Amino acid sequence: MEFNIKSGSPEKQRVACVIVGVYESRKLTFAADLLDRISNGFISDVLRHGDMEGKLGSTLVLHSVPHTLCDRVMLVGLGKERDFRAKEYREAVRTSIKALTQTAAGEAVSYLSELTVKKHDVEWMIEQAAVVTLDALYRFDRFKSKQDESVREPRKLTLAVPRRSDLADGEKGLQRGLAIGNGMKLAKDLGNLPGNVCTPNYLAEEARKVAETFGAAAEILGPSEIAELGMHSFLSVAKGSVEEARLIVLRHNGAKDKNDKPIVLVGKGITFDSGGISLKPGEGMDEMKYDMCGAATVLGAFRAAVEMNLPLNVIAIVPACENMPNGNANKPGDIVTSMSGQTIEILNTDAEGRLILCDALTYAERFNPATVIDVATLTGACVIALGHIATGLYSNQDSLARELLAAGEEVADRAWHMPLWDEYQELLKSPFADMANIGGRPGGSITAACFLSRYAKAYDWAHLDIAGTAWKGGKDKGATARPVPLLVQFLQDRADIALGNVVRRGRPRREAPEVAEDDQD
Ligand code: BES
Ligand code: MN
Ligand code: ZN
Repeated sequence: MEFNIKSGSPEKQRVACVIVGVYESRKLTFAADLLDRISNGFISDVLRHGDMEGKLGSTLVLHSVPHTLCDRVMLVGLGKERDFRAKEYREAVRTSIKALTQTAAGEAVSYLSELTVKKHDVEWMIEQAAVVTLDALYRFDRFKSKQDESVREPRKLTLAVPRRSDLADGEKGLQRGLAIGNGMKLAKDLGNLPGNVCTPNYLAEEARKVAETFGAAAEILGPSEIAELGMHSFLSVAKGSVEEARLIVLRHNGAKDKNDKPIVLVGKGITFDSGGISLKPGEGMDEMKYDMCGAATVLGAFRAAVEMNLPLNVIAIVPACENMPNGNANKPGDIVTSMSGQTIEILNTDAEGRLILCDALTYAERFNPATVIDVATLTGACVIALGHIATGLYSNQDSLARELLAAGEEVADRAWHMPLWDEYQELLKSPFADMANIGGRPGGSITAACFLSRYAKAYDWAHLDIAGTAWKGGKDKGATARPVPLLVQFLQDRADIALGNVVRRGRPRREAPEVAEDDQD
């Protein structure tokens, strides 16, 4: 779909649909009020009939509104004006786009983006409108022989800004929104692909394409090179499958000073997790194709960062393999030596994520990183602890945890800070090796993070357990692309800091629009 930014009056839009907001108790927004006046109260008349009250999540499509040049006007409920915040704005945009796909309108101009949301500027309004729109329109129908015709994707969406002088800021917001949206689409596509298509090698080739498209560097290692590095923990997981392991490394050298310490993102890339010899139960096992969502979101965030050309050095590391049971697979009781030299007793072959991540974390040391963040669908226990709402966040540096929490808050992709106390480390004791790969059922997400922390001592590190947030079940089953928005916001904040800017968050936007300016096509 094509996006545009413009400033101009709603009644002058010669388009299939004009989208305007209505607050609860039928209070018209600036754009809705303009349409109401030009049509001699047509809109307030309709509202008086009671079909629409302005409740958040409601819409009403009107045809042939007098003295306007558009075919339709869509009224979108915004809820109570004094409660209208970022969350409500995003929901209103989502509702309007969903409703638009139920009409025959191929083009629309939305005035929701010129509303005021406390603490946010025009750039943010446009960025979020683009992100939410792309997210709402996403479909994965590559394997359907017939497309679903009940949903029509609009061809073109124009987002209104209050004034002509806002156009440049709007354009910046749009470019950012598109980059984030493209990164999220990549993450969803990779996540939704079945395990027989999205193999470790496929992931590597997709990563290579991202690098080639944006002029980033890609290095892809196979089993023998991985063995030479001493990554025997990682390879022990891969050897139970006929699919070869891949270690994927992408590098974006965007910082002004090319020698700046990089931010390293590490993503768990288990393209299918059967559990291995500690085989999972059959029911729902298909969902373990999502066990590479850490990798998918790291690649998605990396894609967004390079498309925006963020002035940072960013490295993505993805260990990718399958976890399968064959005659060569890990067995409970096996002991492996990780790249760090620490030995691991594998008590459960289904706790494989940490076995591949530990070596990737050791590998990250060679880049002398400023910060390392790993992202993984690591534990079912995290789903029990936080449900599908919050990502589990662990860190060996409280200030880093705070940065990530704030970034997630900013873009409605929230995480929750979990403890990494020494008492939990005790649970990983093994009588035969330096540590066991499981700590028992209680606090399972925490002991998994404790395991990783033993490989992340050389730098500031955070771990995001996305087992509950990376995909959703039910009728809208599919990958969510979380935490791409959080990661990109974190990188943007770091870029702002690097440039000596104040972090964008909380910059107040100018007040409500003045009288609309002339249309300017
Ligand atoms: N990929 C799973 C974690 C998972 C489970 C993610 C369910 C999403 C939904 C991971 O590899 C795993 O199997 N973890 C085990 C660890 C246990 C054996 C200590 C788990 O959570 O049961
Ligand atoms: Mn597993
Ligand atoms: Zn797994």
